[in-house]
Amino acid sequence: MKSVELFAGIGGFRIACDELDIQTIWANDIEPKASQVYTSQFGCKEHVEGNIDDYLDSIPEHDLLTGGFPCQPFSSAGKKLGINDSRGSLFEKITYIINKKKPKYFILENVKRLLSMEKGAHFARILKSLSDLGYLVEWRLLNAVHFGLPQNRERIVIIGHRNSPFNAYLCSNADFNTLSCKTNSSISHVTQWKKIKHHRSKFLNWGMAFQGRFCHADVLSFSEKQADTRLHSILEATPDSRFFFTKDTLKRIQNSDVVNKFYNGVEILYNQKGGARMGYSIFGTAGVAPTLTCTTSRHYERYRIHNEYRRLTNIEYARIQGFPDLHCQSVSIYDQYPLYGNAVPPALVKWVIDRIINKKHVPLNNISKKKELF
Ligand SMILES: C[S@@+](CC[C@H](N)C(=O)[O-])C[C@H]1O[C@@H](n2cnc3c(N)ncnc32)[C@H](O)[C@@H]1O
Repeated sequence: MKSVELFAGIGGFRIACDELDIQTIWANDIEPKASQVYTSQFGCKEHVEGNIDDYLDSIPEHDLLTGGFPCQPFSSAGKKLGINDSRGSLFEKITYIINKKKPKYFILENVKRLLSMEKGAHFARILKSLSDLGYLVEWRLLNAVHFGLPQNRERIVIIGHRNSPFNAYLCSNADFNTLSCKTNSSISHVTQWKKIKHHRSKFLNWGMAFQGRFCHADVLSFSEKQADTRLHSILEATPDSRFFFTKDTLKRIQNSDVVNKFYNGVEILYNQKGGARMGYSIFGTAGVAPTLTCTTSRHYERYRIHNEYRRLTNIEYARIQGFPDLHCQSVSIYDQYPLYGNAVPPALVKWVIDRIINKKHVPLNNISKKKELF
């Protein structure tokens, strides 16, 4: 099996593919620092640095296309311009490549907000474009905490099967739902496939789309989750003094409000006066980390660790995202934070790719009703 990695960054998908014996034959990213890390870890042979626009027609044949496409147009931290942002059109580049190369499978990854942005309009457009290409599309919201990582990081994964087991089901009763992990009884209320273009609200956390129609459901629990990992268990024993905060900061902490509560698994100890945002919080390590991002201010978040106050180290960032400690060592410590913050946790996408290629499908209920639609 051969894969192509678009918007490769530092290679989150690459690590997952390597572990599953899938050969990455072409990878691309526009950003020099990310490309430097990628080539230092995996070699220069398959990696091309530059704008994807310049390579649309030179991508080799492949079985699996992967891509965590830029989240700025969709991220709640960004300017919320959505598909009106020129960067939003990078999605059209993906559909161009899929249509031209027709890989057996694709897996795309993005931020949770994509499901709700502009009352689902963006996600509807994505589903419609991908399902019009003849793929059976499925999505699911996943959280890094369920893959043994100490981070509350919710990401949407969108997969596509070209020779879809759904088609096979119609002919031979094969099972086809890949990501819900639920048997028919727990999502039995998914009985109706609706037209994507008529949908005007937030999409639920799991669903499927085919030929302009979709069904969706809120799949609540994640049955395959790995043992919880807490932040304190991945900390460096003796971090460099540069990561500790100055006396000045310590003084300001004394004027903070005590919180001592967990939000989404994140332990918040204090909120600094005058700011309710997470950025003004001081975190503990008994829970997990809030979502790592590429925003510089987030790298200076304060943690109380053994009664001292410091930010997380670059190595702790690597561990929180599930990368090897020295993965980004070819660039400065300062540059490592946004690269890790932008990356996809390899363990999360490995789970998805494994389910796709090893055909771990679950039957859906009321299939006969859906049959009528096609
Ligand atoms: C969300 S990150 C993907 C990170 C990657 N999955 C990883 O594990 O590191 C999006 C990537 O798209 C790249 N990018 C943005 N615009 C691009 C373009 N026009 N051509 C190629 N890459 C681009 C950015 O440099 C960034 O590394």
